[in-house]
Amino acid sequence: MVVLGIESSCDETAAAVVGRDGEILSSVVRSQISDHAPFGGVIPELAARRHIEAVVPVTLEALKQAETPLERIDGIAATFAPGLVGALLVGLSFAKGLAWAAGKPFVGVHHLEGHLLSPFLDTTVPPPRFPFLGLIVSGGHTSLYKVSGYGRYELLGKTVDDAAGEALDKAGKLLGLPYPGGVAIDRMTREGGNRKAFDFPIGFPQRDNLNFSFSGLKTALVYTVKKMGVKQGEGAAIPEDVKRDLCASFQEAVVRALIRKAFFALDETGLKELVVTGGVAANHRLREGLVKESGKRGIRVVIPRLEYCTDNAAMIAYAGKIRLEQGQRDPFSLNAVSRLPLESL
Ligand code: KG4
Ligand code: ZN
Repeated sequence: MVVLGIESSCDETAAAVVGRDGEILSSVVRSQISDHAPFGGVIPELAARRHIEAVVPVTLEALKQAETPLERIDGIAATFAPGLVGALLVGLSFAKGLAWAAGKPFVGVHHLEGHLLSPFLDTTVPPPRFPFLGLIVSGGHTSLYKVSGYGRYELLGKTVDDAAGEALDKAGKLLGLPYPGGVAIDRMTREGGNRKAFDFPIGFPQRDNLNFSFSGLKTALVYTVKKMGVKQGEGAAIPEDVKRDLCASFQEAVVRALIRKAFFALDETGLKELVVTGGVAANHRLREGLVKESGKRGIRVVIPRLEYCTDNAAMIAYAGKIRLEQGQRDPFSLNAVSRLPLESL
């Protein structure tokens, strides 16, 4: 089937067309980062309004780039959960309306299923083989899944508070860095930050707990900055060299937690392949650490190309295509859901 996918769960409006063999015919993403940057985080109401403006032009562009008119689309998929409800509703309602008007089959896709299947979109690397371990690390999610096949996902661990990207973004804000903080912190680290300058804690360090926690780390940074005599909201005044060291040390604690839990999970399950996806997969220390650790332990690490790691609609079209080809159809009464465990599907 040729499937049109639509994604609007957070701050990216995206549409994509995936062809009969799962190949990407187009993938258009319109980011709202510059709209939210002045606020230092995603404003849900603003996100929904921007999706309303973008969803039609982005979809038309995806069809155009795929050189596939709507008549040649065999099915339509849209993210229905999890995410910001107002944002989800825009893409989902538009997709349902389009499917109804054009008489096409429709299916709702869980955003995290899209992320877990994203390595299959990148044809430049051999795809992982089931079963594999999936680590999703983004601004909204930090979770470990055993992926045994399409639609077969077992949650092994997840964050009990902030997502890894969220922790980095909050730290960036505290240090007066531009949004998104994760990107700025990675840059500051590469510009010579000393990752051993400060000793930040790792949440749940023990082996028998595959969950993550980043709130203690955030609090530790707040206290460290306070001790330096820096008032709240004045992080920008911290000298650049100290700020670089704070960034490098904070990032190191986040990355070490991610790597530690991923490899504990690999040990526990005996899985030999690790897929890492989500925006934080762009982080250079995470990549370096994964390569080093996997080399030592004979694990294959698959990180999809960055454009497929971050939010996109190709992964939604791909997951939707599999479900549609298995005969799944969702009614037009399907609603947007802000929180929904993937295993409950
Ligand atoms: O997957 P994504 O584009 O959107 C969602 O959150 O769904 O991920 C965005 C997150 C942000 O928190 C951002 O700070 C983080 O990914 N990020 C990074 C890097 N690039 C993006 N974090 C660390 N290092 C990076 N290079
Ligand atoms: Zn995502």
